[in-house]
Amino acid sequence: MPKLTIAIDGPAGSGKSSVARHVAALLGYLYLDSGAMYRALALKALRHGISPDDENKLGSLAKETHIELRAPTPEHEQVGAKNCVFLDGVDVTKEIRTPEVAQAASRLATIARVRELLVAEQQRAGAGGGVVMEGRDIGTVVFPDAELKIFLDASPEERAERRWKEHQEKGERLTLPEVFDEVIERDKRDRERKVSPLVRAADAVLVDNTAMGIEETARLIVMLAKERERELAKAGRA
Ligand code: DC
Repeated sequence: MPKLTIAIDGPAGSGKSSVARHVAALLGYLYLDSGAMYRALALKALRHGISPDDENKLGSLAKETHIELRAPTPEHEQVGAKNCVFLDGVDVTKEIRTPEVAQAASRLATIARVRELLVAEQQRAGAGGGVVMEGRDIGTVVFPDAELKIFLDASPEERAERRWKEHQEKGERLTLPEVFDEVIERDKRDRERKVSPLVRAADAVLVDNTAMGIEETARLIVMLAKERERELAKAGRA
């Protein structure tokens, strides 16, 4: 069977990471979390005291930074990590999962130069197919020719609650209304930015998983992927 490129886009808390990782495991594909790259650069900017809105400094920083995604170690998997993230050779998998880094990532992701560099990196990482990549612009910009595009969504209340539970599990004491505000603020910025905003690609399948679990959502996507694989094999791409 031909190996597909699967793009999964959607807002924060839509379940993209868990679903995409699951889909990749079921199909034997590579899983890549593009948001982790924006988060890693944001972490570096915060550590260097660079504002996540400083276009010039962030353009240069992105150029001299090496970000690599690797399959998680069993130890990382135990704490829920789906990709291991290396920033200039140092493991920052845990450090990038804070609300502060998430907000900074969303801000620097509005900068065209930053996106240009990270998108090129994502295209290199996913070249060759057999990959499930998740983010905000995968089906529209990174892999516009992906054979299967999914736009994953859920109600804002449900998405905030999922994020809040994740924070609780990590022992962070944020309240649900605080997490709700953080998710809404990030959504607004991700959807309204000028460069590559979060938008459903015209040919993406909309999956609203407000009332669905991770397993169920992943199984639905795998079903769609198998159908696409068969169609492509029939069309002579086997
Ligand atoms: O998926 P995430 O929540 O880890 O992403 C963090 C931020 O990175 C998100 O708020 C916007 C940005 N991002 C993006 O602009 N494009 C992507 N393909 C992935 C993430």
